[in-house]
Order: sequence, then C-alpha cells, then structure tokens
Amino acid sequence: MKIKSAEFIISNTNVTKCPKERIPEYAFIGRSNVGKSSLINMLMERKDLAKTSGRPGKTQLINHFKINNEWFLVDLPGYGYAQVSKKKRAKFQGFIENYFKEREQLVCSFVLVDSRHDPQKIDLEFMQFLGEHQVPFCIVFTKADKLGSSKLNQQIARYKKELLKFWEEAPMSFITSSSSSLGRDEFLNFINQVNQDVAQDFK
Ligand code: GTP
Ligand code: MG
Repeated sequence: MKIKSAEFIISNTNVTKCPKERIPEYAFIGRSNVGKSSLINMLMERKDLAKTSGRPGKTQLINHFKINNEWFLVDLPGYGYAQVSKKKRAKFQGFIENYFKEREQLVCSFVLVDSRHDPQKIDLEFMQFLGEHQVPFCIVFTKADKLGSSKLNQQIARYKKELLKFWEEAPMSFITSSSSSLGRDEFLNFINQVNQDVAQDFK
C-alpha cells in the first residue's frame, strides 16, 4: 500500500469523543517506550507525525490519524509505566480499556513487544484482556535492529513458544525496526488486505 496522506485528526481520553466516521481502524498498544509512536512514523514515512521520546510516558492520549482518507490509525499511551502513580495507572488506564471495549470501528490491534525481552506478565495480561473482549490482535516485535539476526530469531521463537502455553495458536506477528524500516512492506500489505476483507462491513 502506498501512503498518500496521513493527517492528525484529534486527541482525547474518551472513546465516545473519538471520530464518528465509520472507516476501518487499527490501534497500536504496548508498554511505554516499546516504540509505538516511532513505528507509526516509520510506517507513514513521517518523522514527527506521532510524538516520540526516549523517556517513557510520552503519549498520554488516544490520538487518531487518518490515512489515505480511508482508515484510522490510533496511537495510544503505553501501559506499565512505573513513574505514574498506581492509582492513576490502575494497571491499564480505564480510558484505554474503554476504548478497546467500545470502539466499533476497531478491526485489528497491534500489541508491540520489545524483541529483546521475554514475555512480560503485563503484556500477556493485556493480550488476555483483548481476547476476552474479542478484539483481534497481532504481535509486533520492535527494535529488531538491536539484536543480531540469530539472536533475534532465537528470541522470537522463545516468545512464540511461551505464547502457546496460553493460546491455541500464536497470533500473527511482525518483526520491525523503526530505525531501519524493517517490516514496513509486510505491515502495510497486511493492513491493505484487512481493509479489503472488511470493506463490505463498512459500506
Ligand atoms: P510511550 O508513548 O511513552 O508509551 O512510548 P512509545 O511506545 O510510543 O515509544 P516511542 O516511539 O516514543 O519510542 C521510545 C524510544 O525507543 C525512543 O527513544 C525511540 O527512538 C526508541 N525506538 C523506538 N523504536 C525503535 C527501533 O525500532 N529501534 C531503535 N533502535 N530504537 C527505537
Ligand atoms: Mg508514544
């Protein structure tokens, strides 16, 4: 898929105030600092469309971007950010949970995990939460440039093996690097395919 346009639409903390337009929507979620906003910029070939930072907790709101005038891409705050008070964090912030429970246009979510790390409890719990609410998701391994290829393959195999303890089938996954653009074509082709598959439901 060619990216012809990518425009910021609105930020908020309330799913009921998200854009009303019925077009397919894709959300990016994962721990703080895992690389959600960077991946969005990489996919869109825009340096600063989504705000990024070396410090966790940069993205604080539900941010809608409209792509090619055809679909929404959503940048979300991370979870598991230790600096935020326990009360405010309440594990996964309530407005994020509501977004996933109530957003009807959402056709697929991408759960980002750092390819250097073994499965973390909080990520597995979030995947469980999505499963319980019938939200389809893929796993996106980020920062692949930080590992050599054999270590990377080994780490991903370990991750998938662990997932099979919880899921009958490992979810579909992508291996990405925002610094080298690894995975960009596969990712955009996937979205393109899903857009076609769901087109009938959005008529
Ligand atoms: P929050 O908004 O705080 O939840 O973080 P986020 O998940 O949006 O992460 P963000 O994109 O802001 O990136 C966090 C840090 O990781 C930044 O310093 C990025 O430059 C770095 N980073 C993100 N993706 C990659 C990658 O693929 N490779 C490398 N080497 N660094 C990356
Ligand atoms: Mg961010």
